[in-house]
Amino acid sequence: MNFEREIARLKTELNAVILAHYYQESEIQDIADIVGDSLALAQAAAKTKASTIVFCGVHFMAETAKILNPDKLVLLPDLAAGCSLSDRCPPGAFAAFKAKYPNAFVVSYVNSSAAVKAMSDVICTSSNAVKMVDRVPKDRPILFAPDQHLGRYVAKQTGREMILWPGSCIVHEIFSEKKLVQLMVEHPDAEVVAHPECEAAVLAHAHFIGSTKQLLERVVQSPKQKFIVVTEAGILHQMKKQAPGKTLIAAPPDNGCACNECPYMKLNTMEKLYLCMRDRQPALELPADLAAKALAPVKRMLEWSE
Ligand code: 13P
Ligand code: SF4
Repeated sequence: MNFEREIARLKTELNAVILAHYYQESEIQDIADIVGDSLALAQAAAKTKASTIVFCGVHFMAETAKILNPDKLVLLPDLAAGCSLSDRCPPGAFAAFKAKYPNAFVVSYVNSSAAVKAMSDVICTSSNAVKMVDRVPKDRPILFAPDQHLGRYVAKQTGREMILWPGSCIVHEIFSEKKLVQLMVEHPDAEVVAHPECEAAVLAHAHFIGSTKQLLERVVQSPKQKFIVVTEAGILHQMKKQAPGKTLIAAPPDNGCACNECPYMKLNTMEKLYLCMRDRQPALELPADLAAKALAPVKRMLEWSE
């Protein structure tokens, strides 16, 4: 079957927009209407006039699109596409954690469930976390969840003390500092660009730190010709397209495997994308009261990001 042609046909039939994250496989990125980082995709979901949103990313991203569009059909090719950060921050445990700090202002990373978002004061993504934390009233302690590494990075950038939920990303936490340093020695002319979900020891070597979109822009704009890229390998597709002459070296993880791919993101395939559009499912469903509670901190993030 020609998936590209069938997906294009179904897109018209459904009046759909296809949003894809940079970690999706390249064929999916190439067929999407918009490819972006978590913030750009949430902004696109907030603005779209399409009646159906097909979200090629992970569950929390599609759920955020649903929070912003409770009356629209939001499809995710594989509902099992979770995220270690979101999955390891269960709402009950988070509620108990939050109860210990009754005066805290809660900043939650978008990589969290709708139930955790509903208990938060503002949401952030990796591209705007510093900006969000900077806006928190100075007299309030900050509780940051669920990524401890992003939290530590933001605390350092803003000078704000933060109470951190001890979560991490299974992809970004396994980059090896030792192997990164070896690569830097082999390629002294390379610029190191890294995602803030990496551990502090890895980030300490980075020349530039940012969200996936910011890393892509940096590679395109930097005068350097060679880059060591410390994030999920899916981003290399857009980097190669937008900076064709530049040399890109994927940083190795701390295991025998040469890969650094998010197993959740890679659950989506062209076939599942076609099937979800054909069958109008799996679709994101959220209780209306939960969606309404989670909307306030998401909207606050979008307003503070302008
Ligand atoms: P970005 O917002 O930088 O795209 O990050 C999303 C993510 O899940 C990174 O692992
Ligand atoms: Fe979650 Fe990490 Fe995958 Fe991003 S790369 S979706 S943070 S598990």
